[in-house]
Amino acid sequence: MKFFLDTANLDELKKGASWGVVDGVTTNPSLIAKEGRDIKDQVRLICDIVDGDISAEVVATEAGEMMREGRELARLHRNVVVKCPLTREGIKATKALSQEGIRVNVTLCFSPAQALIAAKAGAYIISPFVGRLDDVGHIGMDVIRDIATIYKNYGFKTQILAASLRHTLHVIEAARAGAHIGTMPFKVLDQLFNHPLTDKGLDQFLKDWNKVFQEAPVAR
Ligand code: G3P
Repeated sequence: MKFFLDTANLDELKKGASWGVVDGVTTNPSLIAKEGRDIKDQVRLICDIVDGDISAEVVATEAGEMMREGRELARLHRNVVVKCPLTREGIKATKALSQEGIRVNVTLCFSPAQALIAAKAGAYIISPFVGRLDDVGHIGMDVIRDIATIYKNYGFKTQILAASLRHTLHVIEAARAGAHIGTMPFKVLDQLFNHPLTDKGLDQFLKDWNKVFQEAPVAR
């Protein structure tokens, strides 16, 4: 599964990228607004940090305007993936942009039916929001599982990006369900590393080593 960071924060992206396991970035209008910089400038800066798919979302609600915005975003960098919402207008724009060769991530997906529509429109990525479904009492991960089955049945190439992942178990479950990509806040990526037995084991290894050698051998 590819790991994407769900943030527009440059410090978080630099730190995550330095670990060598970040394959891409997702942003949305809320995340861009949080950083307070113009979307085009912010996306360019993000593209300088992470070499992978970088999703940037349109804010227009009418297909023609979404297409205009989408083309402008796509021109910023070869890695930009245009994000369109799963509305009728968003799907119209997805179809048209995809036909022009612009890769589209269809966002705000909450059902397998919506995911089927996005795939039929030629979406490069579908983004079902797991955590927000859990928030309203639905099992978000069931949607990932259903989409995986449906896409497999018909050979759709659209990648399933599990979004709105809020904790480690969400990431593991999304991987088990067959999501191609998991996008997560920096905090969740950081938490994936943690295991008390790793810390305990390393501590013991170093104590044992130092008892005999005091310090690491010097390379000759
Ligand atoms: O980028 C979309 C998604 O990942 C949002 O997550 O936690 O705001 O529901 P969240």
